[in-house]
Amino acid sequence: MSKKVLVLSASPRRGGNSDLLCDQFILGAQQVGHHAEKIFLTEKTINYCTGCGTCLNGEKSCPQKDDMAEVLEKMIAADVIVMATPVYFYTMCAQMKTLIDRTCSRYTEIRDKEFYFIMTAADGSKRAMERTLEGFRAFTSCLSGAKEKGIIYGTGAWNMGEIKGKSAMKEAYEFGKAI
Ligand SMILES: Cc1cc2nc3c(=O)[nH]c(=O)nc-3n(C[C@H](O)[C@H](O)[C@H](O)COP(=O)(O)O)c2cc1C
Repeated sequence: MSKKVLVLSASPRRGGNSDLLCDQFILGAQQVGHHAEKIFLTEKTINYCTGCGTCLNGEKSCPQKDDMAEVLEKMIAADVIVMATPVYFYTMCAQMKTLIDRTCSRYTEIRDKEFYFIMTAADGSKRAMERTLEGFRAFTSCLSGAKEKGIIYGTGAWNMGEIKGKSAMKEAYEFGKAI
């Protein structure tokens, strides 16, 4: 069965290491007939959650008029969600956290999704990604029926493109192919 795959690429560097891993994942997914779309978050206008509380009783939607409504529709419609971030100061980058906070108005509708996490860091150790991974898991723990299906550790990559030739590239492709 063909699945809808939504890839959320949060690095500010288009063609950077995590973005390259996203593309590998997509390549694998498309190879076996899934429909995959990547959203490059920094090209969208996604403001911070203001904590106004308008959405909290579930009757009113978020009053902010930016691109988040469109992103949320796609998250709700997807079968598979891939979240990709560079490690910044041993946690996720601000673009990804901002997106997560803005799911507040509709996160209860993001149900029964399969999740993959992609992380990149200069540090060569997977342990350097623990807190980033915990951040992702904190989010998915709030979602009904979320299933964590795979983690791609893009360790040891500082400069743009340094991830090329590392095993994470193949792993991302294989994860995409196996969904
Ligand atoms: C603001 C900033 C903070 C960073 N913090 C860390 C860090 O805490 N640990 C680490 O290993 N690498 C850190 N890095 C390096 C990036 O994680 C690394 O360059 C990564 O490959 C970037 O992924 P991208 O190309 O997808 O943006 C940092 C880079 C920047 C710009």
